[in-house]
Formats: sequence, structure tokens, C-alpha cells
Amino acid sequence: MSMVPFSLAVWLLLLPVLLKVCGKPAQRIMGGEPAPSDGLSWPWQVSILYRDQPICGGALIAEKWVLSAAHCFPNIKSQTTHSDVVLGAYQLLNTSSNTVTSDIQQIILHPTYDSDSSRGDIALVELKSPVSFTKYILPICLPETSAKFSMEESCYVTGWGDIQPGVELPPPLTLQEVKVPLIDREKCNSLFNATQHEPQLHNPVGPGMICAGYQEGGKDSCQGDSGGPLACPCDGHWVLAGVVSWGIGCGRPGLPGVYSSTPFYATWISQHIPNMTFVTCGKGGTTSGKSEVNGREQNYPVVTLLLVFFTLTLL
Ligand SMILES: *[C@@H]1O[C@H](CO)[C@@H](O)[C@H](O)[C@H]1NC(C)=O
Ligand SMILES: *[C@@H]1O[C@H](CO)[C@@H](O)[C@H](O)[C@H]1NC(C)=O
Repeated sequence: MSMVPFSLAVWLLLLPVLLKVCGKPAQRIMGGEPAPSDGLSWPWQVSILYRDQPICGGALIAEKWVLSAAHCFPNIKSQTTHSDVVLGAYQLLNTSSNTVTSDIQQIILHPTYDSDSSRGDIALVELKSPVSFTKYILPICLPETSAKFSMEESCYVTGWGDIQPGVELPPPLTLQEVKVPLIDREKCNSLFNATQHEPQLHNPVGPGMICAGYQEGGKDSCQGDSGGPLACPCDGHWVLAGVVSWGIGCGRPGLPGVYSSTPFYATWISQHIPNMTFVTCGKGGTTSGKSEVNGREQNYPVVTLLLVFFTLTLL
């Protein structure tokens, strides 16, 4: 009998390690209708302000780290000093006590970033000090390199950007969400190929990019949403599939939004955030049962072992 309280104590001590805190909003029912007024649906959404003006979105991925787009930071030095990251906000002009504003420690652009082709359009933003997670401020899960998202998934892009090209979101700047299916690179390039636009781009969707939207247009991310999250459900978590990068206009038929693909950049992220964990998705792993990022095993096998141990000691 005395084994039970002991194993219970071990279990309770390990609980925080075992429970993945990412990608689990307090009040969002997967597959259900969005709850646009609760402010709890997208707790990883951040706004990046430059001299007090919102310039881009971003996604919280760890206590001290936000993932955003490289093109949001054309002037890193000044932006590191004069930018703030706003977390836990729902209406940017009507913030509550759940909102936290943080200074920036450093901004790291991907080394392959090229503004002409939008290649490598991803950036890590380190906060001055770690934020405390609340139900309004939580990280989204990051996918490992071999993660495969189902093209049928209901992904959402969120942000405080324009509601139409040249039409700003009106006050009090309420966070917008739109459901956008993923479109694979090949399909997306053939859409861009077949749709008249100026300048006519040839296969513009490079490796490290993924598209999302509708062939008929109408629903899309837009100016000001850059750097913000494209979140897809995966194995019971919300996982960051992409970062808003570029588009030709917004919501134009045959020209879907283009996102930096986060699995493509998992290794780079793990180089800068050594303790970062990544989730497998769609059984995309090359090895069965466990996954690796840079040779580091995920904690899933450990979780399984401990669950077995816990169950056995209780019997
Ligand atoms: C501002 O936020 C509060 C809740 O925090 C809400 O009750 C109020 O309606 C909001 N104001 C506007 C103008 O939306
Ligand atoms: C796009 O069109 C060009 C020729 O105009 C062709 O060479 C290329 O293969 C096409 N790409 C796709 C993805 O269809």
C-alpha cells in the first residue's frame, strides 16, 4: 500500500514535464465553431509594435521566444531597441489586465533570408525576460522537420492586419481569424502559373514555403498579418504550420497566401533554442514510434514508459 502514495508523489512531480503545454488553448473546441469574443482561442498570437505602432504579428513558441517573419525587421538595430511584443491581447486598442508587453532582447533573421524572393522569411524574436503562461498567453507547438500536415485540415490564420487591400482593421482592433486550407507547393505554383498577375512570377513558391487559401479567393491573410501564425490541428494540439510571409494582393482568385513552412526551419530553431521540443505530425517521422530533431529524442517514449510504470504501481 505504501507504494501508492510514493508513486503518486513521483507522478505529481513529473506531471509538468509530461504534459505538453503547447498548442492547448483553454477554451477552444477542436473542430467546433470559433469563439471570436472570448479572447482565449489563440493565446500564442502576439503583436509586434514599432514605436508603438503594430507592424506585424508573431507566435509565442516558448517562454522567451516568438517566431515571426524576417521581412518584418528591415532595420534590426532600431527595431530591437524601439519595438515591443504585446502578448495576451484580443483587442489591441482595448487591452485588459491579461495583456503583457515585453521588450526585445534580440532579433535573429534566418541566414538565407532574401527580400526579393522571400526565401528564408522567418525570424526569432527573443523577449527580454520570460513571460508567465496564463490562459491568455500560451505557446503553440512546433512541428518537427518531417511533420506532414494533412491538406484537408482546418487551419486558421489570425492577425490584426488589413481586412481588404488598403483597408485597415477598424478600432478597437479585434483579432481576426480565417479558416484556410493548406495548398501544397506544386499545386500552388501551378495556380500562380495559371493566374495572370503583375509581375508574372515563375514558380515563386520555393522550398520552405507553403500556401493556404482558396482557389476562388476571398479569404486570406493581408498587409499587417505578416509574421503571424498559420495554426493547424494535429494529434490533439494546435501546431504552427506556417508564418505569414507574402501574397499578391489579398484574397485574389488563384493567388493564395504564401507562408514560411515551419517544419522546414525546425533545425534552425533548435540551434537557437536548445531545449525546444517539437511534435510529430501526421506520422511523418522516418523512424517508427519516436522522432528526432538534431539527434535529440522527443519525450514521448519517456511519457509512455512512465504511464506504464504509474499504472503498474497503482495495481
Ligand atoms: C473592451 O473590452 C471589454 C472587456 O475587456 C469589453 O467589455 C468592451 O466591450 C470592449 N470595448 C469595445 C469598444 O469593444
Ligand atoms: C509554369 O509555366 C512554365 C512555362 O510558362 C513551365 O515551364 C512551368 O513548368 C510551369 N510550372 C508549373 C508548376 O506548372
